[in-house]
Amino acid sequence: MNDQSRRTFLKQAALGTAAVLAYPTATVLGANDRVRVGMIGVGDRGNDLLGQVRGVHGVELVAMADVYSRRRDEAKSKVPGIQTFDDHRRLLDMKDLDAVIVASPLHIHSRHFLDTLAAGKDLYSEKTMTWSIPEADKCLAAAKDSNRVIQIGLQHQSSAAQTDARQWIKDGWLGKVTHVESWMSRNTPHGKGQWVRAVPSDCTAQNVNWGAFLNGRPDRPFDPFRLINWRLFWEFAGGNCAENMVHQIAWIMGALDLPLPSAAYMSGGVFSEKDGREVPDTIAVTLDFPKDVVVTWQSSFSNKHYDMADRILGSDGTLEHRFEEALEYWPEKTNRPDGESKKGSSHNQNHMANWIDCIRSRAMPNAPPEIGYRSALAVHMANLSYRNKKRITLEEARAMTPEY
Ligand SMILES: NC(=O)c1ccc[n+]([C@@H]2O[C@H](COP(=O)([O-])OP(=O)(O)OC[C@H]3O[C@@H](n4cnc5c(N)ncnc54)[C@H](O)[C@@H]3O)[C@@H](O)[C@H]2O)c1
Repeated sequence: MNDQSRRTFLKQAALGTAAVLAYPTATVLGANDRVRVGMIGVGDRGNDLLGQVRGVHGVELVAMADVYSRRRDEAKSKVPGIQTFDDHRRLLDMKDLDAVIVASPLHIHSRHFLDTLAAGKDLYSEKTMTWSIPEADKCLAAAKDSNRVIQIGLQHQSSAAQTDARQWIKDGWLGKVTHVESWMSRNTPHGKGQWVRAVPSDCTAQNVNWGAFLNGRPDRPFDPFRLINWRLFWEFAGGNCAENMVHQIAWIMGALDLPLPSAAYMSGGVFSEKDGREVPDTIAVTLDFPKDVVVTWQSSFSNKHYDMADRILGSDGTLEHRFEEALEYWPEKTNRPDGESKKGSSHNQNHMANWIDCIRSRAMPNAPPEIGYRSALAVHMANLSYRNKKRITLEEARAMTPEY
């Protein structure tokens, strides 16, 4: 049997077990087939993911696309023989590519998401799933229509703490949950704003496909600061809600099985370093949920004493989630006098390996587009509230036209 017919045979064999598969009509790779992966946008996070995917057994990283020549050169030096492109469409034209990892800036996520599905590839897309609510609607619809395996880069959905939280909540240890407190905090030296990156000297108009970066945003001369520091500007980014709240809100939504928020309110501002950024560095968000739950999230960029955590507060018990640490539970003696405190003992799963496993089995990954969608809408509702200076309901948020 040659390689192609072996693949076809293995795919057909796997389809025989379709009843247990999430994506039964999809093509299926056999256990011994190598998964051929490409990447779009290999900057800071993309380089982490490049290392992660190469660490998964049976994966071959064969191509990458990035608008900046420095990134393509870096990839060639790390992965001998890798094909590189400055236009992601050329990468998606490759017939012998199974799957694509997207780690581009937020304003291009939906384009890369939709193009990857249209090209018939499985997809790992970094969070936040999209830059706007209409884009999230389109991506979710496309995901539902496709038989592709899609993982969103919400890696805390693969954590031991998520497994334990779901189980303990299901077992009734928390009683009625009405409030979740969560926060994240960072600090930087005086005069240096969080996230600000130096522009490399080779970041010139000659070395960058600027039009592909703009991706339909109003045309203007090459601006290396915005290319490197896109995170600071609404046109390309969603501030710290899109960078970090999204991880925590997805974790909380997953643990409690929360639907979309019914309303959001966000206050704050650019208070820590007035360095020309548009997105706030100091944030207080309140999200109302239909099931009588309110979630608060706060963030500071000029004090990191309390680091980051989520606390789920129930009538019968409390959960405290600190990243990379075991989940902790304390009973509320008022309603659970015989309850005992507990530390989680489940194991973390490797989020990238989970995606690759699902590419073979066609099962649903730990962070499918549906949680990507719910967490993205929470992010966009909070940002719309901040930018419109008022509480925003889900219906109002859906009716708004996204603005830069
Ligand atoms: N899951 C996590 O924990 C985590 C952590 C950090 C960042 N992220 C996410 O990863 C994404 C990238 O963040 P980053 O810090 O790596 O940004 P970055 O600017 O360092 O990297 C983005 C890369 O995309 C390239 N690019 C821009 N436009 C492109 C286009 N049209 N086609 C192809 N490449 C293009 C840029 O040249 C750059 O190399 C963001 O969505 C961010 O939120 C996720």
